[in-house]
Amino acid sequence: MLATIAEEGDAVVILDQTKLPHETAFVRLTTLAEAAHAIRTMQVRGAPLIGATAAYGVALGLAEGRPLDEILATLATTRPTAVNLHWALARMRKALENSAPERRPQAAWQEARAIAREDAEANAAIGRYGLPILQAIAARKGRVEIMTHCNAGRLATVAHGTALAPIYAAHEAGLAVHVWVSETRPRCQGLLTAWELKAAGVPHTLIADNAAGLLMMQGKVDGVIVGADRIAANGDTANKVGTYLKALAAQAHGLPFYVAAPVSTIDFACPDGAAIPIEERAAEELGAGDVPVANPAFDITPAGLIAGIITERGIIAANDLARVTP
Ligand code: MRU
Repeated sequence: MLATIAEEGDAVVILDQTKLPHETAFVRLTTLAEAAHAIRTMQVRGAPLIGATAAYGVALGLAEGRPLDEILATLATTRPTAVNLHWALARMRKALENSAPERRPQAAWQEARAIAREDAEANAAIGRYGLPILQAIAARKGRVEIMTHCNAGRLATVAHGTALAPIYAAHEAGLAVHVWVSETRPRCQGLLTAWELKAAGVPHTLIADNAAGLLMMQGKVDGVIVGADRIAANGDTANKVGTYLKALAAQAHGLPFYVAAPVSTIDFACPDGAAIPIEERAAEELGAGDVPVANPAFDITPAGLIAGIITERGIIAANDLARVTP
């Protein structure tokens, strides 16, 4: 699998996700403005990868000689919903504000590198903690049919993915796992999921978003695993628009609906889903021409619809986040 983000000398190289799955292209980021542009235009996307890119963006901005406050403010405005962005910026601020100005550029690279490394480690642990869920289904049925929405795979992280991490772990453990990949209109991140599952040799089938309910009704789905952009303190979860409808359909059919995310996606300061900012994206994304368009990019799945949150510290009940330390 190609790296989603990597250091190259004084630069950071990202895999341009706006070109996938049709073209494999890389972009070299050397400035704060380029890092901010990459996040805003979704050349990098997915909450954990946005956080890691922002952390490297701080290092690039400091190397340009820009003031830390200006760098943090610029990156903070790139995308509103994924809290990993703000988590990474807060962590960079904490690591840097007490270092001498001449030490800061080097300290920023080190901290960004640590954030990237820890993301990969956290996602590998999510895979290990999620695997028993799939093993239990396989033990009962001989195979596992999981539905996912958007792309919460390797492409959305530094490595392993979140929602796809247990699926990769199951595939590597020899389980017969098949993934129903929801297309995810309007940006079609499902094509990214199909692309990376194909690269890993995991059986999968792309579906139109609205086919999800029928497949559940027909008994073709054993459970749903999605990622998250922000989990409120009460467990309400923001993820790509369309996630909520899958959670409702899963509940109607008695299917478990899991969220997989690192602890950095939990916003302990955010009381509930109503307080999560929802990104409104450009009307052009719907390709509808000159008609009035609303394009909320995320929705909120209430905690009560979530069977559990698969984190790097284990599976936590959505209504039990108070026991998690940030
Ligand atoms: O708008 P995107 O493509 O950045 O949205 C991505 C998602 O909604 C993912 O499910 C979420 O960030 C989790 S990624 C591990």
